[in-house]
Amino acid sequence: MAHPHPSDDRVIKTRRIKFNYPSGSMDKHYVQGDLVMSHVVAVLSAMFPEGEDFFVRSVRHFADDITDPVLRQQVAGFTGQEVTHGREHRALNERLQQMGYPTRRVDRDVKRGLAMQMRLFGPHYNLATTAALEHYTATLAEVLLTDPKAQELLGDGEVRSLLLWHALEESEHRAVAFDVFRATGGSERTRIWAMRRTTFFFTLSTIIHTLLSMLGDRATYNPIRTAKSFAALRHSPFLQRSVIRRLRAYNRPGFHPDDFDNTEILETWTAELFGKQGQLADHLR
Ligand SMILES: [Fe+2]
Ligand SMILES: [Fe+2]
Repeated sequence: MAHPHPSDDRVIKTRRIKFNYPSGSMDKHYVQGDLVMSHVVAVLSAMFPEGEDFFVRSVRHFADDITDPVLRQQVAGFTGQEVTHGREHRALNERLQQMGYPTRRVDRDVKRGLAMQMRLFGPHYNLATTAALEHYTATLAEVLLTDPKAQELLGDGEVRSLLLWHALEESEHRAVAFDVFRATGGSERTRIWAMRRTTFFFTLSTIIHTLLSMLGDRATYNPIRTAKSFAALRHSPFLQRSVIRRLRAYNRPGFHPDDFDNTEILETWTAELFGKQGQLADHLR
């Protein structure tokens, strides 16, 4: 069969990498001094380790049913990447907890929610949930990698490095869970229904956790600062119409992640981060 998608023969490799946060003080509002975005990024970072553990388990459940050798290799690469993301985000989350962000509480809640999902739903539905969340991570990742305004938000510290590396790998492996779902006979109906439900729960829990996190921050009680920070969300590169459209494209029957070409993004950022003079070449072990 001809390969209809560029990701069909893409090699996904696990990078062994380690980040180190400065031992001195890190600015509490590390996203360019912005209150709301600092809490949002902390909440997302806190959600990743348990989320990624769920992704890996839901994909590996079908590991023995995959016959295509390339897809099998991609699953191995995907697993290695997600395990490393989880480990590195846990290190950042501990740091954020010390800075006053409730990352442990978020972690516990996500763990509980996903355990319940695993009990209530079957393996194919859980895999569809993973494919849906991977569409979210890939979309957000690609906004970060293509929009200079999004990159500006991250300043130039180690959090920026971690998020750029994570974003690059999310873009690299964005089709793996999706392709496993298809290859193992997952239906379009299940895929789209899982996306609708995932959108609801993911959005709701991100909003609730962000608000709770903000309530524990003294800076929130400055009404002018808080109002300005919420108002600034309207111009956030992550909440533009084009991004919402792109997220929604997933609900169209026949959608595939490679409908959006990412070849150039991957080439540019692989060189930028991990080339000979790459910004993160010294982080690899
Ligand atoms: Fe990840
Ligand atoms: Fe991922």
